[in-house]
Amino acid sequence: MALLNVQELKKLPSGMSFKSIFVITALFQKTDKNGKPYYEMSISDSTGSIDAKIWSDAAWFDRTEADDIEEPAKDLPDEAILGLIGSTVGVDGKTAEYRKQLQFNFNKITLLNQDKYPAAQFLPRSPIPIDEMVARYESLIASCRPQIADFLKFVYQGETWTKFRDWPAAVSHHHAYANGLIEHTLAVADCAKSMAESMKRSGYNVDVAVVIAGALLHDLGKLDSYKMTSIPEMTTEGAVIDHVAQGYLRFMQYADEHNLEEKLKLHLAHILLSHHGQREFGSPVVPATPEALIVSSADELDFRMFCWSSSVKDLPEDKPISQWHNATNRRFWNREDSEEE
Ligand SMILES: [Fe+2]
Ligand SMILES: [Fe+2]
Repeated sequence: MALLNVQELKKLPSGMSFKSIFVITALFQKTDKNGKPYYEMSISDSTGSIDAKIWSDAAWFDRTEADDIEEPAKDLPDEAILGLIGSTVGVDGKTAEYRKQLQFNFNKITLLNQDKYPAAQFLPRSPIPIDEMVARYESLIASCRPQIADFLKFVYQGETWTKFRDWPAAVSHHHAYANGLIEHTLAVADCAKSMAESMKRSGYNVDVAVVIAGALLHDLGKLDSYKMTSIPEMTTEGAVIDHVAQGYLRFMQYADEHNLEEKLKLHLAHILLSHHGQREFGSPVVPATPEALIVSSADELDFRMFCWSSSVKDLPEDKPISQWHNATNRRFWNREDSEEE
């Protein structure tokens, strides 16, 4: 039987058996109505992710030391199961229909040799090539006046730069894959720059370079809220302090080390703290300058655009309306592509 990827699994009819290789990204033990333990698992490969159920009669094997796929596998002890998050596993399963939704049941899970099947090779990353993103980042910085460009280069160097380049932008919801943070940040910065330029043409007083700097720095705190082992995970600090406050803290440290001019420091700090647009979305202050308004609008727009594209990408042609999308409080529509010039 050929190995199927997530994209292919989502298109299977109910009642089909399959074999696959995935990385486990979340795993919870639960108890069914008869008191028997079962597991809920999220798995990913480079084509997407799905949730699956593993009932108590499933078999768990350990093939980490087996060189050959034909060798008999050892049983995996129960207490090792919850430690499998982030590991690559082979899976035998079957699709089923439950409340009109396709459900995936795994009946055999085999832990594979992680050197031969490294998780990073199976995990999603940004669809945009990293070299292309680095070039866009550099040209944005080059378009700023020296005072601002120098500060941005000071911030994004060494470990800060490698994390910024490699990190996810979230653990769920949006850009939750390697290079997701730089992908999202560039989308926000490009969009914010265009908005700033057009607002300027419309007669508003906008400092385009401050908009670019604010956009490139807006999610700085995510370097502390997330970590990337093989899968994106939230840190404890990320859960209890959150990236808006963490970003402000990091920014103030860089600004002081670099002796950033006071007025610029205050304005960029305001942009970072207000970038979620509203107090109920985690910003302690709301945007109060043209530059802060533009950055928070571009951030929200990129988030919603991403949610639109990921919600509609697997919809069948005859069903153009997505399921309810909690984070944006709406359903999305896969409108037909209009003819574009
Ligand atoms: Fe944010
Ligand atoms: Fe953001």
